[in-house]
Amino acid sequence: MFICLCKGIKESEFSTLASHHGTCPEAMKQAMGLDDSCCGRCEADLETMLQRIDDGSTRPSVKTRLHEQEGQSLMFARRLSRAIATMEE
Ligand code: FES
Repeated sequence: MFICLCKGIKESEFSTLASHHGTCPEAMKQAMGLDDSCCGRCEADLETMLQRIDDGSTRPSVKTRLHEQEGQSLMFARRLSRAIATMEE
């Protein structure tokens, strides 16, 4: 499951980063490499996700599950686009 589509950070990587950098949102933004080129979607949920780690809860929220589904759809669209481009060559 992807937490950040812009940086391609999965939930397991996010948890690892949090264990190394703590659950401070600003520290995590820096650790994730978020910058002005990013969309900021995951940044809006950062505190909630970090709070879940602090609480020891691993159950993803509905919002996180929707984010995951969007990520899978985006990856499928990219693969499809590449396949079409290859066929057109
Ligand atoms: S999804 Fe993380 S900054 Fe865009």
